[in-house]
Amino acid sequence: MSVTLSAFYLISLMSTCWTAGKQCKFDQVPIRGKALRGHTYKTAKAGELFRCYMCCERDPACKSCNFKHTKEICEMNNETKATKPNDFITDEQSYYIRRPGEDFILLTLTTNGRKGRFGVIQSFTVPTTGRYKIKAWGARGGTHSYNSGNKSVTYYGGKGAFKMGLFTLTEGTVLNIVVGHRGGDSVEVKGGQYTSKTAAELNSSVAEEAGTGGGGGSFVYSSSNVLFLAAGGGGGSSAGYNGVNGQAGPNGTSSVGKYSSHSRSGGTGGFPGECDNESNDTSGGVGAGWLAWSCETGSDRSGENGGSRDKGWVGGNAGLYNRGKNGGLPPGAVGGFGGGGGGADNYGASGGGGGYSGGGGGKDAPQAGGGGGSYCNGLSCSGASGGNSNDDGMVQIFELSDEG
Ligand SMILES: *[C@@H]1O[C@H](CO)[C@@H](O)[C@H](O)[C@H]1NC(C)=O
Ligand SMILES: *[C@@H]1O[C@H](CO)[C@@H](O)[C@H](O)[C@H]1NC(C)=O
Ligand SMILES: *[C@@H]1O[C@H](CO)[C@@H](O)[C@H](O)[C@H]1NC(C)=O
Ligand SMILES: *[C@@H]1O[C@H](CO)[C@@H](O)[C@H](O)[C@H]1NC(C)=O
Ligand SMILES: *[C@@H]1O[C@H](CO)[C@@H](O)[C@H](O)[C@H]1NC(C)=O
Ligand SMILES: *[C@@H]1O[C@H](CO)[C@@H](O)[C@H](O)[C@H]1NC(C)=O
Repeated sequence: MSVTLSAFYLISLMSTCWTAGKQCKFDQVPIRGKALRGHTYKTAKAGELFRCYMCCERDPACKSCNFKHTKEICEMNNETKATKPNDFITDEQSYYIRRPGEDFILLTLTTNGRKGRFGVIQSFTVPTTGRYKIKAWGARGGTHSYNSGNKSVTYYGGKGAFKMGLFTLTEGTVLNIVVGHRGGDSVEVKGGQYTSKTAAELNSSVAEEAGTGGGGGSFVYSSSNVLFLAAGGGGGSSAGYNGVNGQAGPNGTSSVGKYSSHSRSGGTGGFPGECDNESNDTSGGVGAGWLAWSCETGSDRSGENGGSRDKGWVGGNAGLYNRGKNGGLPPGAVGGFGGGGGGADNYGASGGGGGYSGGGGGKDAPQAGGGGGSYCNGLSCSGASGGNSNDDGMVQIFELSDEG
């Protein structure tokens, strides 16, 4: 009975559309025998499914509609089956159809104002089995601002990468989401003073060759540690050199600076940047990768390496005088949460960005941190190196617009 009815309605819909002079096209697939219950903000009289669909398209508040074909009523909803899966019910007298056009943002995850090395791994439970678009942005590296002669000069951290893809996710899957924090700025007061005052309060300057922190990467992975998406953070800046941008590709980049022999490579294949075993007090912390290995920077004057998943993505600490307690505002030149490497004290290098593979640290100033790499194991993956124009990272999950 209902099969016959629906066939009849689809035929009548098609013929009506042809009489309008051109063929109407559904950009969304109508779902027969379904309705979204309890989210109707407006009803309208509509003789056919396509009219109902058009009513919804014209009202920006409308996210989906139920077309009650026996009563010729169009119920306009301000939610969808993905935002309210428990209210998506069987109703033989109804078609459910989503608004055409853009993909709806289900969730936007930010740092929520948190800063520095420590952050929170957030989570998202997939509401209904289906296809989702996920976008991730890595965070920027730290800024280095100081007086050279009588001139104030500033170098900026590399921008975080952008990465996105489409994923088929199963209802109930819990995603872990890391949103990268921006790398910290240099704060060490010229002369390496032990003081609780900032360089500005002391009418002094930040030490010319102090390091800065690498930006944290942003990561989306399942509770069983299957990585879906990662966007690399940018490297920290150093005197005369901006940090390297987070990379759209999988590999991290080398640090950059005056002496190429002081540069250290970025990680490849999901590993952190190259360990600096040579120098003691002057290493920049390497950016963490998805996979960990253990090596530590030489002393507490060096920037600490960024922490991978096994260390809860904690950013690397900054050199002793460059942490904020000893001049300048806390947290100082620490690596951002999301595995950013810490910046060394004066005469030392800056931290690499965290990411799928970590950005390179480096040895001695001036040496700016390398950018972290990115990853996507979904469909239609794309990305942009340095594609985040904001300081902090972000992750967004979209309900996909079903193609009609
Ligand atoms: C949907 O509409 C109802 C009734 O007008 C309103 O109370 C509710 O806040 C709206 N929800 C959203 C997400 O706009
Ligand atoms: C800085 O300013 C002082 C006082 O104005 C001046 O004597 C000095 O030459 C300046 N130094 C530089 C490097 O420009
Ligand atoms: C910094 O300079 C200002 C203005 O010249 C002065 O009032 C203040 O005492 C100075 N502070 C220090 C710590 O020297
Ligand atoms: C990443 O690095 C590995 C190891 O050096 C190399 O084989 C691979 O081609 C690099 N990938 C890209 C996209 O550059
Ligand atoms: C640095 O140490 C790591 C870990 O011990 C080692 O694998 C690597 O070969 C060393 N690198 C150099 C340049 O000595
Ligand atoms: C760093 O230098 C100090 C002082 O020279 C020395 O005691 C320490 O062993 C060195 N550490 C490394 C890792 O080389």
